[in-house]
Amino acid sequence: MRKLILRALQQEGHISGEQLGRKFNISRTAVWKHINELRKKGYEITSSPRLGYSFVKSTDLLLPEEISLGLNTHFIGKHVLYREEVTSTQDVAGELAQRGVEEGMVVISERQTRGRGRKGRSWDSPAGGGIYLSIVLRPNFSLTQVIQIPLIAGVAVSRAIKRVTPLQPRIKWPNDITIGGKKVGGILTETSSEIDRVNYIVLGIGINVNTQRSLLPEPIRVVATSLAEECGEYVSRVRFLQCLLAEFETLYNEFLVSGFDTIRKEWKALDNTIGSWVKVSSGEEEIEGEALDIDREGFLLIRKKDGDVKRIISGDVSLEHTC
Ligand code: BTN
Repeated sequence: MRKLILRALQQEGHISGEQLGRKFNISRTAVWKHINELRKKGYEITSSPRLGYSFVKSTDLLLPEEISLGLNTHFIGKHVLYREEVTSTQDVAGELAQRGVEEGMVVISERQTRGRGRKGRSWDSPAGGGIYLSIVLRPNFSLTQVIQIPLIAGVAVSRAIKRVTPLQPRIKWPNDITIGGKKVGGILTETSSEIDRVNYIVLGIGINVNTQRSLLPEPIRVVATSLAEECGEYVSRVRFLQCLLAEFETLYNEFLVSGFDTIRKEWKALDNTIGSWVKVSSGEEEIEGEALDIDREGFLLIRKKDGDVKRIISGDVSLEHTC
């Protein structure tokens, strides 16, 4: 009912409580209660004796009803679970995946108390400006292709940034999304698999959209930024999220049908790692050398000083200088 009232208000601009009551066959008190609930969710709705209720502004909360309005995907984000606070959207999506939820389910939260990043690090997730989401995927492919999923997600995030802002994002291998050398988003994949079969993947994406840097801890503040900070204006999280889900679905479908080749080309055009002298910490090892390429499977190729070329599946890259 609340959703219907919201749509009527958005379509009409203003409408009286009596008209709404008649339209939906409920009392004016019931209408009033629904309007108050909508206000609590952040919708700005005024009321006056002459005009009745007037719709002023949508909420920027990432509510499923806001996301679904205008989302033109077939399966990614068709079902969205929204929570104000979670430990990590990865935990919630992982449990749902385990229970057999369908591919494309999205879990989204305003705030994470134990958001996690790659390599066991934490991901600071304050409320009020970030997007924290996890998508359940059930691809029918082998384990070797799993490492390409975060690279595909990186391209989707970059496309969404370009659609919604005038910014030019870059990707630092494997999947740090950066603007002007500072990190604006990160991607984490967690996989449940058997010997050569993927049960499901939980793809987690965190983006600082309107995040105030002052809310991030000191060491992170220096190396991180947000979309709003970089483009100097507020960015609609709802619109950004809709673009991201649509871009990801397009790329994921392309990947399932035609493989990684074309996406790899786009990834390489966004990359700022190749051609640089890098230090990579991968497990116990630290490898230094020139980043040559990412290969067809998504591995980073590094030529060390002695000419030996190493193929790296995952690691933390620091860019030293261009070669
Ligand atoms: C990284 O760069 O280290 C990856 C960060 C991934 C953060 C996202 S936020 C949504 C999802 N839930 C989490 O706990 N982590 C991912």
